[in-house]
Formats: sequence, C-alpha cells, structure tokens
Amino acid sequence: MNLVLFLRMQQKVLILDFGSQFTQLIARRVRELNIYCEIHPYNNVKVDVEDYKAVILSGSPHSVRSSEAPQPDLSKIKGKIPLLGVCYGAQYLAHFFGGEVGASKTREYGRANLSYVASNSVLFHGIEKDSQVWMSHSDTILHLPENYTCIASTHDVENAAYKIEEEDTYAIQFHPEVYHSTDGLTLLKNFLVDIAAVEQTWTPDCFVDTTVAAIREKVGDDKVVLGLSGGVDSTVAAVLLDKAIGKNLHCIFVNNGLLRKNEFESVLNQYEGMGLNVKGVDASSRFLEGLKGESDPEKKRKIIGRCFIEVFDEEAHKLTSVKWLAQGTIYPDVIESVSANGGPSATIKSHHNVGGLPDFMKLKIVEPLRMIFKDEVRRVGKSLGIDPELLGRHPFPGPGMGIRILGDITAEKVRILQEVDAVFINGLKAWGLYDRVWQAGAMLLPVDSVGVMGDERTYEKVVALRAVESTDGMTADWVDLPYKFLQETSNKIINTVKGVNRVVYDISSKPPATIEWE
Ligand code: XMP
Repeated sequence: MNLVLFLRMQQKVLILDFGSQFTQLIARRVRELNIYCEIHPYNNVKVDVEDYKAVILSGSPHSVRSSEAPQPDLSKIKGKIPLLGVCYGAQYLAHFFGGEVGASKTREYGRANLSYVASNSVLFHGIEKDSQVWMSHSDTILHLPENYTCIASTHDVENAAYKIEEEDTYAIQFHPEVYHSTDGLTLLKNFLVDIAAVEQTWTPDCFVDTTVAAIREKVGDDKVVLGLSGGVDSTVAAVLLDKAIGKNLHCIFVNNGLLRKNEFESVLNQYEGMGLNVKGVDASSRFLEGLKGESDPEKKRKIIGRCFIEVFDEEAHKLTSVKWLAQGTIYPDVIESVSANGGPSATIKSHHNVGGLPDFMKLKIVEPLRMIFKDEVRRVGKSLGIDPELLGRHPFPGPGMGIRILGDITAEKVRILQEVDAVFINGLKAWGLYDRVWQAGAMLLPVDSVGVMGDERTYEKVVALRAVESTDGMTADWVDLPYKFLQETSNKIINTVKGVNRVVYDISSKPPATIEWE
C-alpha cells in the first residue's frame, strides 16, 4: 500500500496550532498512545478536517482578549467532530461562544492540584481528585456559557475543565501534554480512545512496513545517496532505505577529524556489519587545513559545513546516475519550517540560486522520517533490529569537537580533547550513568593554568566536563553526577591525558547557558 493511501486510511487526529511552545509535546503524547496525529497552523489547514477522528486546539501566547487573538473557523468541527480545547483553546471556546475570560487574580502558573472532579465525566475517568496538573496562563475563564458544565476545578481555578452539553466538546485550562500533569496521558487517552473512539494502531512495525513500501514505490530502481553521521536519525533512515532498495542505496560516511576518539572506525565497522552499502571517506586533514587559524565559532561552523558539502559532492559525483538524495529529516524540522502565521517557508529556499548549489542538492529528495518524532525514530530503530547501544547514543553536534575546542583548532588540541572525552564517556558507561544523561562531552578551554606534578611546575590546559538532562536540547539542566565519579574521572584525565592539569565541571542550566560552549 502506498504511504499516501495508508495515511488516508489511518485514523488520525488534527492538532490546530495557535503558536504554543507545547504544541509539539501534545503531538508526541498522542503518538505515545499509538495514535497518528498531525499539527497544522490554525489559519493554514491544507487538509480536509472531516478526515480527522478528533481535533485538539492548542495553547497560544495570545490572549483571547487581544485584538490579535487567533480566531479559527470551527464551523466544520465544533459539534461535529470530538473536540478538546487546551488552555487558549479552552478560553477561546468559552470567550467567543458567550462566556467571559478575564485576567487571573491569582498566579496560575506551574503545579496545581485538582480540588473537584465530576465523578461521571468520561474525560476524567481514572483521574483522582488531588491529581497534579500544570497550569500556564495569565487569563482565566470567569464565566462559562449557558450550555457548558464545569467538570474539574483546582483551588485557584474554578473552571479548570468543562464539557459542552449535547456535543463531544471538552476543554481544559491546564496542560495535559506536560509531564508535570501526572495523569495527562490518561486524560488524552480518555478523550481520544473513549470519547472519540480513535483506534490505537500507529505502531513502529506498521510504520516500517508502509514506509518501506512507499520508498519502493517512490524510488523504484533508481539509485539513492545518503550521508551517514553516526547519529540515530541518519542511521534509522539508512536502514529503512536499505530494507526497501538494498544496494541501490549508497551511503557516505565522512570523517571530518572532529569526531570522538576511534568513532569513525568503530561506527564504520558497525555500519558494514549491518550490511549497509557504505563508503567511509577520511577527510580529516582537509577539514583541519580549512580550519587553520580560525577561532570565531560561527566561521568555524561555516568552514566545517562548506568542507562537508565539498567532500560529499565529490563522492556523490563518483557514483553514476544517482537520482535521489535521502535525508534524516524528522517531524520537528518539518513543523518548524511552517510557522503558525505563515505558510511553508522552507521550500522557498531550495529554489533559490539553484545554479550555485552542489550537484547532489539538485537531486530529488526522499525523507522517510519526516512524519515522526525523535522518540518514535528510536522505537522504529528498535523494531528494525538496530543495536540498542547505537540507538541510545547521546546527540553529538555536526561540527563535533570543532565547537568544543574553544578558539583555534590544531591536531594536537583534537587529540587532547578526544582523549579527555573518551575517559569521561567511558566512565559514564562503566558507572551505569550514561543513560541517565541526555548529552555529555568535554570542552577544551583556551587557557593554560598552573599546576604541580611531582616537583615540577606545569602550565597546561584546562578542560570542562558537561553533562545535561533534557528532552529536546531546547532547555537543559546540569546532571548531579556523584562526587566519587567526578573525582575518579578528574584523576584519570589528569594522570593519563598529557597536556591537561585541571578539570572543572559545568553546573549551568540552559537557559541562560547553552549546552555547547561555542
Ligand atoms: P546549544 O549549545 O545551542 O545546543 O544549547 C543544543 C543542541 O544542539 C547541538 N548543537 C549543534 N548541532 N550543529 C549541530 O548539528 C551545530 O552547529 C550545533 N550547535 C549546537 C548541541 O550539541 C545540543 O545537542
């Protein structure tokens, strides 16, 4: 079955986006329930809403009382398809249908507990009074319209949830998608499965089967080229394509000389062991040459990016009659290219200046992961039998050590940082801490510090270790690693890595600090 047909038959949920920072999280939670959903900007829905089994209205940074308040056309939805308003969505359905929304008198941000739950409400089935919910709004619903019934309250918010009588329309002022809403997933399940009767059939196995069939249909007997990075997305995309078209997939794995210690060799071996048609290209010296003397972080990024494109283009040219470029684009990248107020803008760029683009960028594009989230990519990878260690790897930035060596880059600095990083990462694995951490690495600082070793004074490099917890890299918190571990790691680094005499641990959160130092 082709993917378009499959998606047409697959029961799906529409999330109308009003620009909330949590909209993607709603979609991820719905997908966790094995239900397929799509996000569309409220003012630019390019699909038939009647094709959806349920609709969710997201939150918004706007107030319903402002002149810029988003006002969606719900004429084909409200009262016809099960509808759930979240935060702004709840306030919109109250304010514009005869109720009243005003500024909150008390703080309605952060944790709250339900103080009342209607015992006969299907939406709150299995959710106890006292359950913790997450609030994030400065407006509140002061009065509900006539045919609306309050079905839950908190101490400060009377109309925390309501139902519209004679309709399958529900609304909540708190955020069920946020992990701090303890029973949020239960509430979403109650709405989607019990009220809207959506089937939970969106599983990794069914995604693999339909995507493989879709790739075969789209690409036929053509050759496809793909750049492997060692990361989860490009690996899963490659395995899916390999399953679909086998040797017609040509993977290129470039060593930019800024990867982790022995990473190029070990990952290349792993790829070969998986049966992928992969060519490893060691271009380390070319990258280092290009970076010589440059210390500006953005310029370093540009040099690394440009060098990668040159190497990839040369390699792609060596293959004859390639028609497709495969990419590991995932759903968040797709959503981010469609703003809540405009149409798709990313497509404009690819038509720009086509004559000046490298040849491989003129190929047709195949993106097997463009409808799924990162956690789904991992689940799909698992269902494809990819080594869990490879799937569980921490994210690693494209420019690699290039942005972890502060200032200019030399081969010696790369060696030092690779050694330090290897001690740190291997230590995390040995102590069973690796999976507790979302991302970890070491930074080589552009300062020398005084030390003593034996009877001698040393003047050597300082390294900073960084380990963070996060879900998507947008916000992050430093990890409270055990002192014993930090002590052991610091000793090992100073005793075994020549050129380092001081180790520090970064205890800054993002924001305000970023994860990388450059
Ligand atoms: P920051 O430092 O912005 O990093 O908090 C957030 C996430 O993005 C990664 N990162 C990059 N990834 N090219 C990449 O491919 C880059 O230039 C780049 N800069 C940061 C970073 O490792 C973290 O996961």
